[in-house]
Amino acid sequence: MTVVGNRSAEGTPPSGSWGRDGWAQPTHRPAPAHETEAETAVGAPRTTGTSFHEMWRGLAPIGRHAESGGYRRYAWTGADADCRAWFQAQAETRGLTYELDRNGNQWAWLGDPEAGDAIVTGSHLDSVPDGGAFDGPLGVVSSFAALDELRSGGAKLTKPLAIVNFGDEEGARFGLACAGSRLTAGQLDKDRAHALRDGDGITLPQAMDRAGYDPEAIGPDPERLARIGAFVELHIEQGRALADPADGTDTPVGVASAIWPHGRWRFDFHGEANHAGTTRLDDRRDPMLTYANTVLAARKKARIAGALATFGKVGVEPNGVNAIASLVRGWLDSRAPDEETLAAVVGEIERAAVERGQRDGVDVRVTRESFTPIVEFAHDLRDQLSGLLGGVPVLPTGAGHDAGILSASVPTAMLFVRNPTGVSHSPAETAGEDDCLAGVAALAQVLEGLACH
Ligand code: GLV
Ligand code: MN
Ligand code: MN
Repeated sequence: MTVVGNRSAEGTPPSGSWGRDGWAQPTHRPAPAHETEAETAVGAPRTTGTSFHEMWRGLAPIGRHAESGGYRRYAWTGADADCRAWFQAQAETRGLTYELDRNGNQWAWLGDPEAGDAIVTGSHLDSVPDGGAFDGPLGVVSSFAALDELRSGGAKLTKPLAIVNFGDEEGARFGLACAGSRLTAGQLDKDRAHALRDGDGITLPQAMDRAGYDPEAIGPDPERLARIGAFVELHIEQGRALADPADGTDTPVGVASAIWPHGRWRFDFHGEANHAGTTRLDDRRDPMLTYANTVLAARKKARIAGALATFGKVGVEPNGVNAIASLVRGWLDSRAPDEETLAAVVGEIERAAVERGQRDGVDVRVTRESFTPIVEFAHDLRDQLSGLLGGVPVLPTGAGHDAGILSASVPTAMLFVRNPTGVSHSPAETAGEDDCLAGVAALAQVLEGLACH
């Protein structure tokens, strides 16, 4: 197998270990590229563990930051291009039909893409700033490994099977999560996408163009969605429900029931720049004060409502140590078990910001940048998966996923792999080797159940 170029990789590759707690070095030699040349290569001598480790080692150095140890794989950057090259190489080395869709999502097909009723699996390869190795890549790597397992077991597929890498899932660069799947599902229109800008003022079309993609082509792709019979996304769990189950069961894999409604709101606090050493406290219009109080209010309102509220990104102008800020811009991420609670919490945070702004002489403006309604995964598919896996736990999540976006258009389900610490969106994110391989086995079982009958 060819390991693709690694233009933007920074830092030392993690030498076969996963996460901070480390994995043993695989002892297997990589399989030659010709080994799985064609679809007929059922029975190719790969084991799940071998195939998994090879892929993990190939992907691990891409976009990894030397100092933080976290991943910086942002849409349409060099690291993103390297991840995409890696995906394409995985498809080609297996003799799968590779496709790039109009929205920059990548597809690898076993069987005829046009035949319909396809079973699709996959996830994403981009990351949040200094993200972990698992959020996204675990789903993509597990998908290829599950396919290898099905082929080496001689499974007879009666439906086409595809693996997908959705572009820009995290929205780390342009602020809008799941851009690739949203465009495909018609949940993000072209004009809005074209207006997105990154922190350096580069627009999405400029970034796509520089990366060699056609930004004019983006838009809904109903024909592609119509080919899909079911989509199953495997993902690392981003909480501790499987690690600390209430009933004490020891299960490495669970099935998703629902995704909490969630969204992103930009709070602009406009004050007045002035000298930090000469402006009396009473004369200041300091937006930092209003912002700080809003952060505290968000925490309190969310706690009372049983919701979540996070200001994880902030921008300050002019950003000088000895200057009172003229503008503080903070981004609120909020999530709740239901839409009513979410709306109430965000409304209360906004009111608290405006009230505090009146005291501080600060003008507050709030813009909703994205919103994802509650997702209830298809009950029959969810129950089918849980049954195929012998009644594994069924759990909701507060994290957003491409599966959530697709669920409005096609029957969709998710598998979660146990996360011993629950940490995610951090370099400390990890999962045990055995649990990851159990995830692959579960995915293979599910794909076989869906695509072979
Ligand atoms: C994506 O990971 C999100 O939940 O923000
Ligand atoms: Mn994520
Ligand atoms: Mn993810």
